[in-house]
Amino acid sequence: MEFHSLIAVRRSLRAYADRPVEPEKVERMLEAARWSPSCGNRQPWRFIVVGEDSPSRKAAGESLDPGNGWALRAPVLVVAGAARGDGAVVESREYSLPDTGMALMSLLYRGADQGLLVHPMAGWKEAPLRAALGLPGDFAPVAVVAVGYPGKPEELDEATRKKDGKPRTRKPLGEVAFTDHWGEPYRGTVRSAPAKVYETDLQIRLGDTDAMGHVNNAKIITYLELGRVGFFADVAGVERVEDYQFILAEVNCRYRIPILLQDRVRVRMYVTDVYRSSFRFRCELIDPRDGRVFVEAETAQVMFDYATGRPRPIDDDFLDKIRDYIGG
Ligand SMILES: Cc1cc2nc3c(=O)[nH]c(=O)nc-3n(C[C@H](O)[C@H](O)[C@H](O)COP(=O)(O)O)c2cc1C
Repeated sequence: MEFHSLIAVRRSLRAYADRPVEPEKVERMLEAARWSPSCGNRQPWRFIVVGEDSPSRKAAGESLDPGNGWALRAPVLVVAGAARGDGAVVESREYSLPDTGMALMSLLYRGADQGLLVHPMAGWKEAPLRAALGLPGDFAPVAVVAVGYPGKPEELDEATRKKDGKPRTRKPLGEVAFTDHWGEPYRGTVRSAPAKVYETDLQIRLGDTDAMGHVNNAKIITYLELGRVGFFADVAGVERVEDYQFILAEVNCRYRIPILLQDRVRVRMYVTDVYRSSFRFRCELIDPRDGRVFVEAETAQVMFDYATGRPRPIDDDFLDKIRDYIGG
């Protein structure tokens, strides 16, 4: 998966499928972590893999906070932490924890890259975790990561399902990144993914379903198009076909749950990246009643000069409208 898609796809969701994880996938995650950078190449990170059949599994699971009970359904738990004595110290700055954080991030991305749901947790009690896994005193556990395949949100209890249904949010770029000196907000072209979400509801038609009884995969592409049409009209004020200046260059689509006639469909989308001549949307088709995600997709739109048949830079006017909308 391309890295920008991976950033958009990785989520800390909580519904796990009743499906084992192939050991080689876990191994690839550990390999990705192993090749992370570290200060002085000291590699202070350590990982303990606790599978479903592990003798430590029950006790490790019991160390989780009650609010993280959903993680017990994940077939694999990976405990990540730092062997502090192995980390570099520069002046008085200790690097074992940030190094471990970077390795943890590599582990998460490699998991998501393989279609896994990888959810890091800080909600556990340290003493029982130490006892369950025989952790040495010098080792600082940082996160317990639940690893498994994504499951059905409707199998979660209501409170947990609500958490998963919430849109992702981030602080604005200017609040976390500065230019020249502290406090001078960095002003980018647009917020990075995921920015403000645009939503519009769609009406399923009987004719959208096929012999299999669900909405046909080709219709889903049209549903995504309806989302874009809504976005262009509502956000950019582009309604007439002759005002369309974009051509669709790419659609990546993952069909997660079949859409049935009795379902409700909402398109949820946001701009993830803006380049000189193109920009990308990340889109989801969801049921607004229970948050189920039917489809995840990414699309790329290229600003196109129909006279020359070539891409051209995005208009300032259009860029301003997007910027105003997402507040970047
Ligand atoms: C170190 C760390 C600890 C976390 N602890 C928990 C936790 O105990 N329970 C939980 O449900 N989510 C936990 N999360 C997940 C965060 O809530 C989540 O990453 C954040 O809301 C952003 O959502 P996203 O990962 O889907 O982008 C943790 C994340 C990190 C990085």
